[in-house]
Amino acid sequence: MTRIALVTGGMGGLGEAICIKLAALDYKVVTTYSPGNTKAADWRANMREMGFDFYCYPCDVGDFDSAQQCVTAVEKDIGPIDILINNAGITRDMTFRKMDKLNWDEVMRTNLDSLFNMCKPVCDGMVERGWGRIINISSVNAQKGAFGQVNYSAAKAGMHGFTKALALEVARKGVTVNTISPGYIGTKMVKAIPSDVLETKILPQIPMGRLGKPEEVAGLIAYLSSDEAAFLTGANIAINGGQHMS
Ligand code: CAA
Repeated sequence: MTRIALVTGGMGGLGEAICIKLAALDYKVVTTYSPGNTKAADWRANMREMGFDFYCYPCDVGDFDSAQQCVTAVEKDIGPIDILINNAGITRDMTFRKMDKLNWDEVMRTNLDSLFNMCKPVCDGMVERGWGRIINISSVNAQKGAFGQVNYSAAKAGMHGFTKALALEVARKGVTVNTISPGYIGTKMVKAIPSDVLETKILPQIPMGRLGKPEEVAGLIAYLSSDEAAFLTGANIAINGGQHMS
């Protein structure tokens, strides 16, 4: 039986690496893109040229109705979602004194409300079928806090509370819920950090002295998605080159 994995925000960065890894393992992979993304068709075509035929659906993960519609369409067109990877996320980095309510709301909506919005329409089906994997992508900055990320750190820390509570509720139903907390991975999001800040403030905090690779995170997701990971739930797995110890 081919399992179906839905990766939110899969067109780039970590999400793309996760889609590629799961497709290589023969999962049917669905990704979402934000409804305003004009490059979605090009991305899909590029991936096809690379040999990956991903299903792609527009979804505003911060909007309850949009998430519901997306899941309904995927389940009708392809089948029930076995694995949900809540990957879509944004930053609005600035010091708290410069942060306005909109910068706060946008990050909470996309990074935390999205968990409720996406899990709500898939959770009952997973429980009824007796098998499911929910993986929430948080951040080392949830555990440590990060200069310029009051909004992001709060949303990402909230994710893990969500993970643990839901994990308890579905633990006897064959459904696992886990958080992973990547550190600084070489994606567009991290490359947008001013280079002097990256060099002088961030890299020195990473014991391995380098950024992570998206593929390294994708490998962990593949494990958590598998049957082998059936006894692992409610965890928060650090994957950050040792930064959580700094
Ligand atoms: N630690 C300590 N001090 C810092 C600092 C840091 N990380 N970053 C900046 N500062 C200091 C500066 O040295 C400066 O000090 P002085 O006033 O004494 O000179 C002061 O803060 C103001 O700094 P800026 O001029 O840079 O202020 P700004 O408002 O222009 O920019 C900022 C602030 C937006 C936070 C910018 O520093 C920045 O982008 N930092 C990176 C934030 C970050 O780590 N984002 C992570 C993105 S990746 C991600 O989120 C993925 C993930 O999960 C890990």
